[in-house]
Amino acid sequence: MKTTLSVIKADIGSIGGHVRPSDQLKKTVESYVHEHGKELLLDAYVSSTGDDIAILMSHRNGVDNPKIHELAWDAFMAGTAIAKKQGLYGAGQDLLKDAFAGNVRGMGPASCEFEFEERPNEPFVFFAADKTDPGAYNLPLYLAFADPMYCPGLLLSPAIAKGYRFTIMDVSYTEGDRVIELSAPDQLYDIACLLRDNERFVVESVHSRATGEIAAVVSTSRLHNIAGKYTGKDDPVALVRVQGSFPATGEILSPYRLAHYVAGTMRGSHVGPMMPVKLNSSVSFFDGPPVVSCAGFCVHDGKFTEAVDLFDHPFWDWVRNNAAQKAAEIRMQGFSGPAMLPYAELEYGGIVEKMRELDKHFVVREAARKGNGRKKKAA
Ligand code: F6R
Ligand code: MG
Ligand code: MG
Repeated sequence: MKTTLSVIKADIGSIGGHVRPSDQLKKTVESYVHEHGKELLLDAYVSSTGDDIAILMSHRNGVDNPKIHELAWDAFMAGTAIAKKQGLYGAGQDLLKDAFAGNVRGMGPASCEFEFEERPNEPFVFFAADKTDPGAYNLPLYLAFADPMYCPGLLLSPAIAKGYRFTIMDVSYTEGDRVIELSAPDQLYDIACLLRDNERFVVESVHSRATGEIAAVVSTSRLHNIAGKYTGKDDPVALVRVQGSFPATGEILSPYRLAHYVAGTMRGSHVGPMMPVKLNSSVSFFDGPPVVSCAGFCVHDGKFTEAVDLFDHPFWDWVRNNAAQKAAEIRMQGFSGPAMLPYAELEYGGIVEKMRELDKHFVVREAARKGNGRKKKAA
């Protein structure tokens, strides 16, 4: 019998700005899910990362199941009522529609799901990031699934030596899901060509080439593509199966030691290093830096073990220090060049209006129009 894991997450309000949800808010969402999901779910785990609450659920209903999505939506609605009552900032922020319409996709919350036949032991990890967008996972997934410098299993383990198939989505296409499938190692350079552009091309899923099994899924929604205006960054979640025919847990984690620069942080409009943090962490400096947490589990007959906090280890303190240094370095140049996102990615409308106004006052010099004011030489 197949097990489905679904993560649905949303920012429905937080304390002290876009920092972290209140305990009461989290508890409300958690109790709602446990109470109303009794018949539907095998298990559930509710956590927060920055200002986002994520609901991880196991069940037998497959992906895109309307009842599962509705349960999460209703839990966030119940949470929003508490967020409003407590006067939390941005209460209900990510619930962009008034009524639930069958699937949370396109309605504000981010989601990722996969269905598989459980192995006798089924370890997996769950990532949640805040103050960034789904492309933030491009580099870590590429390095973990396609680069033996980070994943020595690609050289050492016959179970994974055949490599992986990446499904990559063009997230700027809003008429439907525009995707391409490319296999590593054969099409490594093609994969890299796309994944360099984190804001347009996003890894949606990864499959084992040896067994065809699903290895990883990422939430690909981009809020500013949905709402057409700034509503907060997309704060993506991801699920990755580990060990056996998949990379080891440590191989999946290894790229996060880079604290690579991603889009997000202050006003969703800058570039900052992605800092691996402990579960239920908040954000701080410059409304950031972008953070990612990682919980490790085993699931058996749909039941979760307790979560292991995979970034709660002395090694990651060193990475966090490096990330803080990288954050401070890029911040020194303020709005200039690569420190702030390009025009199309700015999440606030203010500068767009400013540019429109300034545009009216630009002049094209007459002299330039007539050939830089230089007289044509006589023939
Ligand atoms: C970034 C983020 C924050 C806010 C900033 C201003 O994703 O959530 O950086 O953009 O705190 O918030 P508002 O516009 O709500 O006052
Ligand atoms: Mg927010
Ligand atoms: Mg957030």
